[in-house]
Amino acid sequence: MRGKFVTFEGCEGSGKSTQLKLLAERLNGEGVDFVMTREPGGSDIAERIREIILDGGNTAMCDECEALLYAAARVQHIKERIIPALEAGKLVICDRYVHSSLAYQGFARGLGEQYVADINAFALKNCPPDLTVFLDIPPERAFARKHGADEDDRMEQLGLAFHRRVYEGYLAIAERDGAFCRVDCSGTKFETSRKIWQLLKQKGIV
Ligand code: TYD
Repeated sequence: MRGKFVTFEGCEGSGKSTQLKLLAERLNGEGVDFVMTREPGGSDIAERIREIILDGGNTAMCDECEALLYAAARVQHIKERIIPALEAGKLVICDRYVHSSLAYQGFARGLGEQYVADINAFALKNCPPDLTVFLDIPPERAFARKHGADEDDRMEQLGLAFHRRVYEGYLAIAERDGAFCRVDCSGTKFETSRKIWQLLKQKGIV
């Protein structure tokens, strides 16, 4: 049987990495056969594209190039890693996916959701997640919790107004995508982790 595909989304500082670590520990403990991967990246070629996208020195990169590079990394990752794992019956957990492109490039960069959806539809030939977990915390609170942005990361340097638009983009997606579930992550990491596990159970993922 084909495995399930779950993606995680959230603004910078939402605690996604911490939650994914806790989830991996729990899945290991429960003996679940899973693959944990990330975007942009997740395969050698996609990781090299990631370096170009996130390089703080690439200040001349235009928004369209950025959106296309994310999509290029994504399709390589899907073909090389995600689809084979799903076909082998594994649960695939991916840190960010196409919703990041919609929120960051579509809403926050201002390319428009349709433009970004079209690029990705062309690249991906449809590989939708069974569930997307959105770690919901407004960027103002997330940044305070994280003690500011990473100076070497081109995306983190974009400032609060940009990240507010990202957040609003995610909220707009949540309104109409039935597989996109908001999880309030303003509590402790263990509270959030319990909520995520409950959600995965409720949706029949674990
Ligand atoms: P990363 O360091 O992995 O950030 P995080 O820990 O917040 O996930 O860097 C990924 C960055 O790329 C992050 O700023 C979000 C951004 N991004 C996009 O803008 N579009 C996309 O399609 C993806 C996958 C990520």
